[in-house]
Amino acid sequence: MSAVTEEQVLDALRKVQDPELHRDVVSLGMIEGLRVDGGTVSLTLNLTTPACPLRAEMEAQVRAAAQGVPGVGEVKVKMAAHIPATRLAGQGDVMKGVKNIVAVASGKGGVGKTTVAVNLAVTLASSGARVGLLDADIYGPTVPVMMGVRERPGAVENMIVPPAAHGVKVISLGFYYKDDTPLVWRGPMVAGAVKQLLTQVEWGDLDYLIVDLPPGTGDASLTLAQTVPLGGVVVVTTPQEASLNIATKALAMFRKLNVPVLGIVENMSYFVCPHCGERTDIFSEGGGRRAAKALDAQFLGEIPIYPKIREQSDAGQPVSAAAPDSPESAAFKEIAFRVAGMVSIVAYESSR
Ligand SMILES: Nc1ncnc2c1ncn2[C@@H]1O[C@H](COP(=O)(O)OP(=O)(O)OP(=O)(O)O)[C@@H](O)[C@H]1O
Ligand SMILES: [Mg+2]
Repeated sequence: MSAVTEEQVLDALRKVQDPELHRDVVSLGMIEGLRVDGGTVSLTLNLTTPACPLRAEMEAQVRAAAQGVPGVGEVKVKMAAHIPATRLAGQGDVMKGVKNIVAVASGKGGVGKTTVAVNLAVTLASSGARVGLLDADIYGPTVPVMMGVRERPGAVENMIVPPAAHGVKVISLGFYYKDDTPLVWRGPMVAGAVKQLLTQVEWGDLDYLIVDLPPGTGDASLTLAQTVPLGGVVVVTTPQEASLNIATKALAMFRKLNVPVLGIVENMSYFVCPHCGERTDIFSEGGGRRAAKALDAQFLGEIPIYPKIREQSDAGQPVSAAAPDSPESAAFKEIAFRVAGMVSIVAYESSR
């Protein structure tokens, strides 16, 4: 039998598609360092995010495709990730070391926006990405407490240097408030404060910057969308009708601002009895999923009410960091990986 060639292996790999980008892994440039040595094939599969929801499946497909070439014995696949950056039309050079900026928004307050932002950031960081978390909720900044950040921000040449916790760089106006400061902000001040947070922080190189917005569709959201190249927004809601209705309004606003809506997360969806394991739908079931469908948005997942989520948050130990193998963390992981997948799609399309 004649020797296996690289061309034969590449041809076989062309039949493997990225399930989200719907193109083959060869033309997407995901195959690197292909070598054929006798019957042994070695290659690196470069995904668009280390938090790839279908990582194992893609690896298996690539392996099977190479193995299908007659004469191939062993296939060595190394997994890596090259995260593409999102730059939509008209977006300049602001924060150019930051590849993807993802806002977490909600219509109503208290739906778990910060909880989602924090666990999203921690999960992406533990998957191997470089992650920052910007608390743009200037009215009630709770990120420093939930992340348990002990250090204060530093300063270098007029730039703020963010401290890190759980592998995530964190900035919040909460670092600068005293406990009893009344947070009275007027429109232009809000815009100024948010702009400062956005432009005067030395993030370094980041794959993802997660931005926790104040609830609603006020000045902070507007300023954010107008100041930085926003790669997308995740809308958090609870299953109640009222919350869903307001989430719909928030979603419409971001669409109007040309911010890609990455999808909807439903938080506090149901309660699982810690003793018997029975699920109780406290509100009507499936509201977030239905709303996503009606709005033509992706449903990113649901998070049950788990007392542990609140306890860990209060203690500055996000559950994704404190108990990464718990069912609580699994719910966040599923969502984080879906978000990363959606970001890859937006980034890929923005580069075309
Ligand atoms: N799935 C959950 N299970 C249990 N507790 C939760 C869950 N999600 C959030 N919480 C708790 O609910 C409270 C509100 O959550 P969080 O602060 O994340 O909401 P928010 O939308 O950011 O609120 P705000 O509008 O005030 O910024 C917190 O005490 C948090 O720990
Ligand atoms: Mg919050």
